[in-house]
Amino acid sequence: MKSSSMGHRSIRISNYMFRPFSISSTIRNKNPISDYEQVSNDIYQNQSTGLYLTRPKRIVVAITGATGIAIGVRVLELLKQCKVETHLIMSKWGMATMKYETDYHMDDIMALASKVYTARDVSAPISSGSFQHDGMIVVPCSMKTLAGIRMGFTEDLIVRAADVTLKERRKLLLVTRETPLSDIHLDNMLYLSRMGTIIFPPVPAFYTKPRTVEDIIEQSSGRVLDCFGIDTNTFPRWEGVKDTKTLK
Ligand SMILES: Cc1cc2nc3c(=O)[nH]c(=O)nc-3n(C[C@H](O)[C@H](O)[C@H](O)COP(=O)(O)O)c2cc1C
Repeated sequence: MKSSSMGHRSIRISNYMFRPFSISSTIRNKNPISDYEQVSNDIYQNQSTGLYLTRPKRIVVAITGATGIAIGVRVLELLKQCKVETHLIMSKWGMATMKYETDYHMDDIMALASKVYTARDVSAPISSGSFQHDGMIVVPCSMKTLAGIRMGFTEDLIVRAADVTLKERRKLLLVTRETPLSDIHLDNMLYLSRMGTIIFPPVPAFYTKPRTVEDIIEQSSGRVLDCFGIDTNTFPRWEGVKDTKTLK
């Protein structure tokens, strides 16, 4: 709408959504999409082609009642720094786990998101495929929510939004957290993986030699966003063996 009132041609260019960009370039250009210049609140113009985009990158984030709430919070923080529009849903047990294992308050977490919905509100925009977004991250994802998504049992907004993400063939990433895993858990993950869902257990990489829990959270959160083409540049990457003597 805005584009036509401004006399601009409105064009949808889907692959820009997955163009990698880094926080440093975002801060420098004040523009998360490197070839585009922001010409109004939600309209970007490609500097070489002159074509317009009608909205910024937009990701749905759900936090459920599995351990590892801090990873969900860090993902939200990073997306905010990257100027990605976020739509947050937190389950009742997500909130309970947040209170139990972190010092965050609900207000702190809500302030990180562009829009917040209650898990009961299945009438929210993200409940419909007509609401366009660039993917959904469930972080952390409980085995209950995993099972709901696998079965298409859309009892709450989290499972409904994930169900819609699947039916619209958009990107869905689940930070599934449980250990050890039963056949039911593994079967649910395999089924969804075969449909294209990214199953991303928050397993630390010890080759980065993490010293603190924060280091581990940073690595997992950054790798989650890697899957959406967002390079946060906030954690060390594997650069090959520096001291080849260790290989002998
Ligand atoms: C402190 C705490 C930690 C939990 N950790 C896990 C977990 O890691 N994985 C899991 O599947 N469930 C875990 N649960 C159980 C879930 O919260 C429970 O199954 C709940 O019904 C999930 O609902 P939700 O998916 O709607 O958030 C945990 C519960 C509590 C209170």
